Amino acid sequence: MKTVTKKINPTCGGVLTDRIVVNEQPLDREKITVMDPQKFAIAIMAAGKGTRLKSRRPKVLHEIGGRALLLHVIAAALKIVPSDRIYCIIGHEADRVRAAVESTGVQFVLQPEQRGTGHAMQMIKAFFALSGDAIPENLLVLSGDVPLIRPETIASICETHLREQAAMTILTAVPDDPTGYGRVLRVAPASPEVTAIVEQRSLAPHQLATPEINSGIYCFRTAALFDKLDQLDTNNAHGEFYLTDVAAMLVAGGQRVVAVQAESVNEVLGANTIAEMMHLDAAMRLNTAHRLMAQGVTIFRPDTAVIDAEVEVGADTVIEPYVQLLGATRIGSNCRIRSYSVIQNSIIGDEVTVRNGCIMDSATIAAGAILGPYSHLRPESDIGAGAHIGNFVETKKVSIGAGSKANHLNYLGDAVIGSGVNIGAGVITCNYDGVHKHRTTIGDDVFVGSDSTLVAPVTLEDDSYVAAGSCITDDVPSGSLALGRSRQVIKAGWVADRRESTETGKR
Ligand code: UD1
Ligand code: CA
Repeated sequence: MKTVTKKINPTCGGVLTDRIVVNEQPLDREKITVMDPQKFAIAIMAAGKGTRLKSRRPKVLHEIGGRALLLHVIAAALKIVPSDRIYCIIGHEADRVRAAVESTGVQFVLQPEQRGTGHAMQMIKAFFALSGDAIPENLLVLSGDVPLIRPETIASICETHLREQAAMTILTAVPDDPTGYGRVLRVAPASPEVTAIVEQRSLAPHQLATPEINSGIYCFRTAALFDKLDQLDTNNAHGEFYLTDVAAMLVAGGQRVVAVQAESVNEVLGANTIAEMMHLDAAMRLNTAHRLMAQGVTIFRPDTAVIDAEVEVGADTVIEPYVQLLGATRIGSNCRIRSYSVIQNSIIGDEVTVRNGCIMDSATIAAGAILGPYSHLRPESDIGAGAHIGNFVETKKVSIGAGSKANHLNYLGDAVIGSGVNIGAGVITCNYDGVHKHRTTIGDDVFVGSDSTLVAPVTLEDDSYVAAGSCITDDVPSGSLALGRSRQVIKAGWVADRRESTETGKR
């Protein structure tokens, strides 16, 4: 692995200018070796509370790039060993953490009290003794709060570990500012061999300048690790069992401990505070933006784009500044997504225009549609090809046929609307009677005049017309006009009469 020189500055106002290598890069499959599950298992430490976050949510469930920290780590681990060889150590809010990640199929090991990373490993040792699971020859240890780790790097630690015939292999990095991390002391600067890991608060004055940090990611020969765990103590600044103390213990026992530097510093950055978390979030999202740009998407000001890791966008689509694309959103080719739109779990076809400020959740938009500005498409909105949904229009559970238009100030809910329909300004479906929801059905080529209310359940058949200002409570047959309002009355001379009567005090 090579030494890294990439710099990112966590205090630069959120604008990250460097291309950052994180685990959303397309995988370099040639560099990933799937490990023999007899020889390797993976433990993920995820029991800690995350005191420094000052949050009620367990640290490993905080999200970056739209996904929990722990899920990022599990995703990387799953590329290396099968899920039943991944052991997740949980403790603080264990039920909540388990529920959030159990669909991945990993195993769980409970650490009821969180007495440190060394104690977490004691739990793993006890779990193997009790469960009868085959003890792997080597145990790879990941931290649930180091989320950008790539599978390539994990595989490479395993390989180095085997090649070096080490008892412990430590993944390290040299960040701009090592403060807060444990430091790795090498036998000599160029030597792969390590003498100890020293935690920040235990650094002697002459060690404070040590630049190389411990990432909290290691590979152990399992027997060597398990042999030392019972000898750990809590005589340290935190009063905890430090897994990091195992390094010096192994060296004292004549065993080989080596360090290997990560290719990217970012990959091993921990997330102990919200600020660190948001730094990683920005890094990951910027990387997603770069992935999309490499596939032909134009993103103005990519540093302002909030794009979740799984989002897909077709070539020649243009994304303006300050757009959010979230969840499982997929956008076609040749679209334009204008500023301040927030699109979540939605499917958008080719050549769609989303004007400024649209909000979309679980909507489906067919090719050539034009939305916004300021349309609000709620779940199960299905917008047909070439349809127009305009200013301040809210839709919910509605399908709107090809070429239909609802351009101004509408609420359309629980409705099926055909093709070629014109919904006038201010038209609403009255879908709710206070107890139940009812459906409005509108055929093809219907014209609904402005400011009409359609009281569901009601059907407007094909080719029907509704006069402006109508309150429609009965079905409208095909080809007919419905007027649902009182006739206009003209009172000639009324204004002058009124003026006279108020002036004379008569009424
Ligand atoms: C740890 C390392 C430090 C390293 C840093 C890298 C130790 C003593 N120190 O410090 O050398 O530079 O990671 O990020 O290991 N956890 C448990 N059970 C516990 C305590 C922690 O599962 O009892 C989990 C946490 O949920 C977390 C991980 O272990 O995911 C690391 O714990 P944390 O308290 O964040 O350690 P650091 O202080 O960051
Ligand atoms: Ca940490």
